[in-house]
Amino acid sequence: MIVISDLWKRYGDNDVLKGLSLKISDQEILVILGRSGVGKSVLLKHLIGLTKPDRGYVDVGGVRISSLKGAALYHAVRNMGMLFQGCALFDSMTVEENTAFYLKQHGDPKTLRPYTKAELKERVEGALEMVGLQEAQKKMPSELSGGMKKRAALARLIVYRPSILLYDEPTTGLDPITAMTINELIVKTQKELKGTTVVVTHDIVSALIIGDRLALHKEGKIAYLADPDTFVQIDDPEIRFLHKLISQDPRTLKYNNHNKGD
Ligand SMILES: Nc1ncnc2c1ncn2[C@@H]1O[C@H](COP(=O)(O)OP(=O)(O)OP(=O)(O)O)[C@@H](O)[C@H]1O
Ligand SMILES: [Mg+2]
Repeated sequence: MIVISDLWKRYGDNDVLKGLSLKISDQEILVILGRSGVGKSVLLKHLIGLTKPDRGYVDVGGVRISSLKGAALYHAVRNMGMLFQGCALFDSMTVEENTAFYLKQHGDPKTLRPYTKAELKERVEGALEMVGLQEAQKKMPSELSGGMKKRAALARLIVYRPSILLYDEPTTGLDPITAMTINELIVKTQKELKGTTVVVTHDIVSALIIGDRLALHKEGKIAYLADPDTFVQIDDPEIRFLHKLISQDPRTLKYNNHNKGD
C-alpha cells in the first residue's frame, strides 16, 4: 500500500501540491489524469523519493519514503521503478546497455544477487523483444524515433521487474497501435509481477483500458477517485470533456453514451 497524506509542495510562489492525499492499493493499476502543469510528474517524483514535500508524507509499504535520504532511500526504493516522461535514456549507451543498466547496477531487486552475463543477455533480449526493439539493440538513443525511445525506456523499466511501477505518460506521442502494445505490456507486467502500478497519462482511452481506478488531479489535490465506469459519469467539466473525446472512439464503445444499457 502507498499512502500519500496531506502533501504540500511549492516552487517559488507556485503552489503545486496543496494537501494532496491518496491511497494506492497493492496490486492495482491506478491511473492519474489531469491537465498539463497540474503537478502529476511532481507527484510521481514524490512517490519514489526524488522530490521532498514541504509538508505531509509518503509511505510505501509502511516505510516513510519522504523522510529518507542517501543510502536509506536507495535501499527503500530498490523495488520501485519509474518510466520518466522524457524517457531519461543515457545518451552515451546503446539501447541494449540502457536496458541492462539497472539490472547490472542493482542485481535482482528482491534478493540483490548480481546477475551473470548470460542472465543479463537473456533478460535484456527478452525485454527488447517484448517492446519490439530487438533490431535496435545496438542503436544509440539519438538514432531512435520518439516512440522507439519510449519503448526503450519501457524495456529498461520492466526488465528490472520492480514490484512498484510508476509510468509517466507511457503512451503520449505514440501511434495508436504502439500505444495499445504499451498498454498491454503495462497490464501484462502488472499481472506477472503482482505489483502495484501508477500511470500518469493524458490518454483517456488508455486510462479506461488499463485502469482499475482512475483519479483526477486538479488544483493541487486528487479531486475524484473512482472505478472507470463511475469516473466517466462524474459531473465535472474536465471529465465531461474527456467523456466527449472517448464517446466516438471504437476502442471504448462501452463508455459511449449511445450504447449505455447495452
Ligand atoms: N524542479 C522544479 N522547479 C520549479 N518548478 C517546478 C519543478 N518541477 C515542476 N515544477 C512546476 O510544477 C508544476 C507542475 O509540474 P509537473 O511537471 O508536475 O506537471 P504535469 O502535471 O506533469 O504536466 P504535464 O501533463 O505537462 O506533464 C509546473 O508549474 C512546473 O513548472
Ligand atoms: Mg508531467
